[in-house]
Amino acid sequence: MVNKAYLKLLSGAKKAGKNAYCPYSKFSVGAAVLTENNKIYTGANVENASYGLTCCAERAAVFSAVADGARKIKAVAVVGSGKKAAEPCGACRQVIFEFGENADIITSEKNKINVIKLSKLLPAAFGKRNLK
Ligand code: THU
Repeated sequence: MVNKAYLKLLSGAKKAGKNAYCPYSKFSVGAAVLTENNKIYTGANVENASYGLTCCAERAAVFSAVADGARKIKAVAVVGSGKKAAEPCGACRQVIFEFGENADIITSEKNKINVIKLSKLLPAAFGKRNLK
C-alpha cells in the first residue's frame, strides 16, 4: 500500500538520483531507505572508470543507514532515469535482505507507484539463518 511515508521516500530517492555519478552508463539512480525508527537515508549510483567498481544507489543508501547505526530497514524506494521502473539488481536485493527481510520495495513508472515485498523479488534468499 502506498502511504504518505512511501511518497516521501520516493521523492527522496528522486532527489538523490540528481547526485548520481554516472558518466559511463548515463543512467542515474537514486534510492532512499526507511529505517525502523523512521529515518531516511539516501544514495545514488557512483560509477568508476574501472566499471566493475560501480556502486548502485541502493547499496550506497543501505550502507549510509548502517554506518549511522541503523540495523532494520522497513522500505527502500528506487528511482531511475529511464522510462521503466528501476528494479533493484540482484546484488542490491541481497544487501537489502540482510537488514530487511520484510522490506517493501517501492518503484515508480510514469504516474504508477509499485510496492512489492523484497521476499517476492528474492525468494529463498541466503541469510544469517543459513550460517547456523
Ligand atoms: N544501478 C543502480 O544504481 N541500481 C540498480 O539496482 C541497478 C543499476 C546503476 C549501476 C550503473 O551505474 C547504472 O545503474 C547502469 O547499470
